[in-house]
Amino acid sequence: MTEWLKTGWRAKERVQMPDYPDAEALARVEERLRQYPPLVFAGEARRLKRALGAASQGAAFLLQGGDCAEAFDQFSADAIRDTFKVMLQMAMVLTYGAKVPVVKVGRIAGQFAKPRSAPTETVDGVELPSYRGDIINELAFTPEARIPDPAKMLQAYTQAAATLNLLRAFSTGGYADVHQVHQWTLGFTESQKAAKYREMANHISDALDFMKAAGIDSENAHTLRSVDFYTSHEGLLLEYEEALCRLDSTSGKWLAGSGHMLWIGDRTRQPDGAHVEFLRGVLNPIGLKCGPTMTSDDLRRLLATLNPENEAGRLTLIARFGAGKVGEHLPRLIRTVQEEGAKVLWVCDPMHGNTIKSASGYKTRPFEAVLREVQEFFSVHRAEGTIPGGVHFEMTGQDVTECTGGMRALSEENLSDRYHTACDPRLNASQSLELAFLVAEELKAFRAGTRQAEAV
Ligand code: PEP
Ligand code: CO
Repeated sequence: MTEWLKTGWRAKERVQMPDYPDAEALARVEERLRQYPPLVFAGEARRLKRALGAASQGAAFLLQGGDCAEAFDQFSADAIRDTFKVMLQMAMVLTYGAKVPVVKVGRIAGQFAKPRSAPTETVDGVELPSYRGDIINELAFTPEARIPDPAKMLQAYTQAAATLNLLRAFSTGGYADVHQVHQWTLGFTESQKAAKYREMANHISDALDFMKAAGIDSENAHTLRSVDFYTSHEGLLLEYEEALCRLDSTSGKWLAGSGHMLWIGDRTRQPDGAHVEFLRGVLNPIGLKCGPTMTSDDLRRLLATLNPENEAGRLTLIARFGAGKVGEHLPRLIRTVQEEGAKVLWVCDPMHGNTIKSASGYKTRPFEAVLREVQEFFSVHRAEGTIPGGVHFEMTGQDVTECTGGMRALSEENLSDRYHTACDPRLNASQSLELAFLVAEELKAFRAGTRQAEAV
């Protein structure tokens, strides 16, 4: 493999990136970002890598979730807190249900740049460049709003830094203390799953009281009173990523300083392309979206390029085929991984293969399709004897109406009530919790099956 430079991607073919009309303005922004502190540290990225390595062996489970796209005008402490709360609840449901540690990674504090299915958008006969996320241009349908503006990178950095600051406070400042398990509930108390959550929280409180009475609560106090929460986003806007790269003095390697984990999207995973070139050289754990068009040959090349040392936890393969298509694609890719002897963590993204347009014109995702893809993912792994190591969701702590179905049976007519996403439809808080209970059942059954198989 050739030597890596953080600027090396510039010589490769790039897709899904903006052409900034003002090169000087871009250079000034890059210079500023190069002087800013990194948002995350190498030791944290290494710790996450170890945790993901454990998940790849079935000793932990990854819960990755958050907005499709963070937006400048939806930035608020309450929104961050609510997403954090739902993730804590979901993690608790999984830990309690399947008795496995959960690695918590938000799509947050940097998830601003979006790949699009078409470079332009036409409304009432007017064609304009597509919206590419708040770090690049604006959603408003005017020619000015759609011009890529490099200054938006500085605003994205600031929002990411403030978000991460709050998340760090929540994670360690007492909020995530497991004794608060009852306080993480949000305003969806009428649902049956909320009652089920309260019942589980009662059991957990009981267990904690018992431990305290038996004198065993203090030793592990740190584990119970704080949480490791990591950030992730798609590594799409490479000028931003390159400018936040920092040399880690401990290892002599480069850290992508913009987030703990970066992933390569399904549209930017060309083995010879700019995105693969950039991400192959950073020390962070990285994700790779695997959609229906990924060939075994592509995957083979990507495994060799992105994880040449076959390090556990370095590479997470995020399968996103769509309900009904997992059986056609996942087994062939699992076999390619097995043939190469590659260490990977397999994760299911049941969102991006299940996006449909409703009759009213809203992009949506049926809850049943999301669940079905998760179930198919588990059953393929069961059949192949491999490990389903995590899930990746687009979700929010807000009570939005973007995905149809679920216990509260959101219908297509309800979508317009609170449809706030700037990009893809997200599960709302109650759909997220419901899904967590269903995933916990799958995971519990899977783990029971594995133990049984080991016993015979
Ligand atoms: C995303 O995760 O928001 C996304 C665009 O996914 P994919 O690259 O899998 O389509
Ligand atoms: Co999305």
